[in-house]
Amino acid sequence: MFCLKSHLPNHVIAPLEELGMTYEVYTEVVPEPPLAVGEKLVAFTRDNHFDAVIGIGGGSALDLSKLAGVLSQHEGLVADYLNLTGSRQVTHKGLPTILIPTTSGTGSEVTNISVLALETTKDVVAHDALIADVAIVDPELTMSLPPKVTAATGADALTHAIEAYVSKFASPVSDALALQAIRLISASIRTAVHQGDNKEARTKMSYGSYLAGLAFFNAGVAGVHGLAYPLGGQFHLAHGESNAVLLPYVMGYIRSSCEERMKDIYEAMGFSPSGMSQTEASQACVRELKRLVEDINIPSTLQEFSIPKEAIQSLTDDAILQTRILARSPLKLELEDIFTIYAAAYEGKVVEKGEK
Ligand SMILES: [Fe+2]
Repeated sequence: MFCLKSHLPNHVIAPLEELGMTYEVYTEVVPEPPLAVGEKLVAFTRDNHFDAVIGIGGGSALDLSKLAGVLSQHEGLVADYLNLTGSRQVTHKGLPTILIPTTSGTGSEVTNISVLALETTKDVVAHDALIADVAIVDPELTMSLPPKVTAATGADALTHAIEAYVSKFASPVSDALALQAIRLISASIRTAVHQGDNKEARTKMSYGSYLAGLAFFNAGVAGVHGLAYPLGGQFHLAHGESNAVLLPYVMGYIRSSCEERMKDIYEAMGFSPSGMSQTEASQACVRELKRLVEDINIPSTLQEFSIPKEAIQSLTDDAILQTRILARSPLKLELEDIFTIYAAAYEGKVVEKGEK
């Protein structure tokens, strides 16, 4: 038995000990884990011939657990299985895996994907074999999360739901999951950030991030994540913060391509579009997204994250490589579009496609 931890609650360990099961605790987990961390963990799992993996923690711990369970039962390096540059395919399931999230954010407990940081960007290992056998979502485990982590991970979950809802691959099922996730997260994220001990808000956030995970597992994420990855790769911004700072600018830029859906999101966020045209409601949605990010104390411009203006070109050059993710955007994003969005996020002014 093998556990990977960020936090290791006693009520996870105690039952194992009562049953006389032996386990090893692996703690070399870092946020936004680099490829080398994944390689080391997979080698460790292979060498120790474990029977199962229990992943406990935030998205990084869960992503690494999935990787360990599957790739320890495959040949070669983790690098061989990367989506953009790898040469091997995952072919079969790995060790039985149980995932227990301690944040309300990534949805990793219900997806088939592990994200790894490369030198200047990120790549993924994605295959249905990475889906956990069991996911245990318990809001109690999130009660002590600090406000900054609650805000960043919660914004990530909201982004999953919004991007799934406007995705080119959305379906009636992913729509239902995404809209309910948007309702739950919008109604509770401010309270969860500012009153962390509010159990009702924490419960809604846990349930919302779980539904958002299911929504984007089915419909995918798109431009916000595609542009967020280089911010993590080049400037080590936390994944949730990268998404949060870009969310209003990407959604504002693509708004006219998904106007009706943006109106639905506005309603799901708890606002009435009564008396508004579809265009007005979708524009109001973008404004409310910007307000929400500000209300949870996440800087709302790239400048505030100390990203230099000169970096916009290299960020653009890396983002355009995220072809798998960008393909789901309702508006096709070319180099010039991506550059414009980063520039808008740098200045803090939402720009729409076609606007100068
Ligand atoms: Fe995400």
